[in-house]
Amino acid sequence: MKSLFLLTVTMTGLVFTPITEAASIYAGKAKAAAVCSQCHGVRSTSPDAPFPSLAGRDEEYIEKALKQYRDKTRLSDIMNNIAASLTDRDINNIASYYSRLKTE
Ligand code: HEC
Repeated sequence: MKSLFLLTVTMTGLVFTPITEAASIYAGKAKAAAVCSQCHGVRSTSPDAPFPSLAGRDEEYIEKALKQYRDKTRLSDIMNNIAASLTDRDINNIASYYSRLKTE
C-alpha cells in the first residue's frame, strides 16, 4: 500500500513540467498541490497526522530541509525519495509558495 502510494506520487511528479522562470509561487503551488499536499496538507495537517505542516513555515528552512533530504544529509525514506526528483527551481518555488501560505 505504501509503495503503491509512493508510485502514484512519483508519477504525478513526472507529469508536471517545470516552468523555467524566477521563483514562482504559482509553479510551487501546482507542485505542492500535486505532490506534497497529499501528506503535508495545504494549510495544515490534522493534529494527529504524522506529517509536519509546511504552511507559513520559514522559506529558508523549507529550502534547506529539502536540499538536505535530496543530498541525504537528512534521512527519511519518504522525503529522500521525493526530494530526489526536485530541481533547485522546484525547491525555490515550493519554499516560496508554502512560506507565503497563511495558517488559520
Ligand atoms: C508520502 C508522504 C509525503 C509526501 C508526498 C511529502 N512529504 Fe514531506 N515529509 C513527510 C514525512 C513523513 C516527513 C517527516 C520526515 C522526517 O522525519 O524528517 C516530511 C518532512 C518534510 C519536511 C521537513 C519538515 C520539518 O518540520 O523539518 C519538509 C520541508 C517537507 N517534508 C517538504 C515536502 C515537500 C515540499 C513535498 C512535495 C514536493 C513533500 N514534503 C511531500 C512525508 C511526505
